[in-house]
Amino acid sequence: MSAPSPLRSVPIDALSADQASTEHADLSGEVAAHDRAYHRDDAPTISDAEYDGLRRRLEALEARFPDLQTDDSPTRMVGAETAAGFTKVQHRLPMLSLANAFTDDEIREFDARLRRFLNWGDEPLALVAEPKIDGLSASLRYENRRLVQAATRGDGTEGEDVTENMRTLGDVPETLPADAPEVVEVRGEVYMTRADFLVLNRQREARGEPLYVNPRNTAAGSLRQLDPSITAERPLRFFGYAWGEVSTPLAETQWAARRRLGDFGFKLNEPTALCADADAMLAHYARIQAIRPDLPFDIDGVVYKVDRLDLQARLGFVSRAPRWAMAHKFAPEQAATNLLDIRIQVGRTGALTPVAVLDPVTVGGVVVARATLHNEDEIARKDIHIGDRVTIQRAGDVIPQVVAAERTDDSRPFAFPDRCPECGSLAIREEGEVVRRCTGGLICPAQAVERLRHFVSRDAFDIEGLGEKQIKAFYDDGRVMRPADIFTLSAREDRRSDSLAEKDGWGSKSVANLFAAIEARRRIPLDRFVYSLGIRQVGQATARLLARHYGTLDALRMAMGEAIDREGETYAELTAIDQIGPSVADDLIGFFAEPHNTEVLDQLVAQVAVDAVSAPESSDSPVAGKTVVFTGSLESVSRAEAKAKAESLGAKVAGSVSKKTDIVVVGADAGSKAAKARDLDVRTLTEAEWLDLIDGV
Ligand code: IVH
Repeated sequence: MSAPSPLRSVPIDALSADQASTEHADLSGEVAAHDRAYHRDDAPTISDAEYDGLRRRLEALEARFPDLQTDDSPTRMVGAETAAGFTKVQHRLPMLSLANAFTDDEIREFDARLRRFLNWGDEPLALVAEPKIDGLSASLRYENRRLVQAATRGDGTEGEDVTENMRTLGDVPETLPADAPEVVEVRGEVYMTRADFLVLNRQREARGEPLYVNPRNTAAGSLRQLDPSITAERPLRFFGYAWGEVSTPLAETQWAARRRLGDFGFKLNEPTALCADADAMLAHYARIQAIRPDLPFDIDGVVYKVDRLDLQARLGFVSRAPRWAMAHKFAPEQAATNLLDIRIQVGRTGALTPVAVLDPVTVGGVVVARATLHNEDEIARKDIHIGDRVTIQRAGDVIPQVVAAERTDDSRPFAFPDRCPECGSLAIREEGEVVRRCTGGLICPAQAVERLRHFVSRDAFDIEGLGEKQIKAFYDDGRVMRPADIFTLSAREDRRSDSLAEKDGWGSKSVANLFAAIEARRRIPLDRFVYSLGIRQVGQATARLLARHYGTLDALRMAMGEAIDREGETYAELTAIDQIGPSVADDLIGFFAEPHNTEVLDQLVAQVAVDAVSAPESSDSPVAGKTVVFTGSLESVSRAEAKAKAESLGAKVAGSVSKKTDIVVVGADAGSKAAKARDLDVRTLTEAEWLDLIDGV
């Protein structure tokens, strides 16, 4: 998005009619572009506050010069052409993402971790290294060798049906050769070459249309068009590099499976290498980095994948990323600019975060006007003053950061406030904490709004049409102050004098859509529910662990109440859940003990049904639902692999033995845990007995 015109700083009252018309064309183009970046491409390039400022100016302009408001003005639309029109597709196998690493050491550690997990020793462990394409992933389903469905990744579980759009790509074969499996889902990346992107932008420039930001966002926007004939006009391409469901295995190795994808008619992302160890991986990384500027498409790193597919299966995945793959990202791009100001943002947990306000600058293809400064210690450590010349960097989707600062004649020190800028409450920094927090709780509007935003976000309640902007507006006009209010919104609407349907940007159809989207979310699985509460340190993975462990919301609430007794059995059980340490436990117990939160929860459960979560997969396995502890050293597999296997069979793996433990697997040289198991009369198994028990499942 280009620099604002000089008219931008002229007060609206001072604009002539001609100037107003110029400014209107400019501003509406800009707002529309931000709408698309936000709603359609999921890639906003400015902060909400800046966006709000632009939009308010546009509204004021149209209020003073009503003739300027056209039917397609962004002030008359809600969001952009969002994904609302696409049918949803459930992925039969989840579309995973990748863990990221940035340094050589992290890659060596990845290789070492694989070896430990597999008990592999120093033998060669082959991995495929291939370029990581900066596009968007898609899954193509072929049945009887014909393309029957194409879907975007979406949240990994559910994507959008883009079959007709994908059919318009030259790189997507309509049929597969006779030797292809009956069912195969080919997964890979939709992208646009740099050359095609430049041509497209040159055409837009000639037509006076706003320019696209980068090939990735343009590819995403082009694919997610409701009208496939628009997609057909865009030069989109596709690389196949992975697969989902297959009726017969493609091959025994990643390397051979890639070749088969090639035989099916797919283009493959090159250059690839089969690497025997970390040195070879890093050498290939260096090679790809060197030719990066000459590649016809954007890449943002290298992906390493364990070559043998049987080993991939043993490694499995953690959370949403395979244990057998790693993205080695390129070093972030940097740029220098001026630090104009430092503002304080208040997050949903009350954390005061300093944000750098910058002279807008392009870094890695995106205009950056804000960067995080993390906390007050970071400002001191990097010795940052307002007015400094700063170096900022941006890597992939990561929030831009200030990495270094240099004094200028305009530099002046910044004093971190001890009051919340939003509600004026005292902001305190507890001993040993780096973060200063507002003590205002829910009387602090910033915290309330941030919590609500989190509550409706994609991985939480995921309510379509209820994004950040709508939440803020509903909070400001008193419609939604607490989560449960969302579910009583439609019932209360009739009693309000300011009808939602008559509000700017709304209409009876969008209101009806919103209410329908809310109704669709009156049932929610426990893990999502727990995540949506926005408890400090409780992300999706922890929420999932808790849901699986406790099963129902009632059981969870009861346990959190009992766990207040730090000496008791329930506290021991909580902290025995793998990955839940005393600090997370404290935040959990604290959350459920706070009367205000109890009230919020009670109101919510009166409105929504929270579905119990059962142990994953094979619930008919002999260890499903059982709590298992491994102790001592195991011979046939590593501890990590044993744990992963037990979990995949539906067992809960705990770190310590309690009365609630069902099985303790005792390896060589086991110590106190084995003794405790005997004391508590818990069933103990040798490694061989354990393997017998789970044999064949
Ligand atoms: S493999 C099970 N290989 O990166 C492994 N992903 O950051 C799934 N991506 O969602 C991904 N190039 O969209 C794989 N050569 C490559 C890739 C690649 C780009 C994307 C993909 C994924 C994202 C994760």
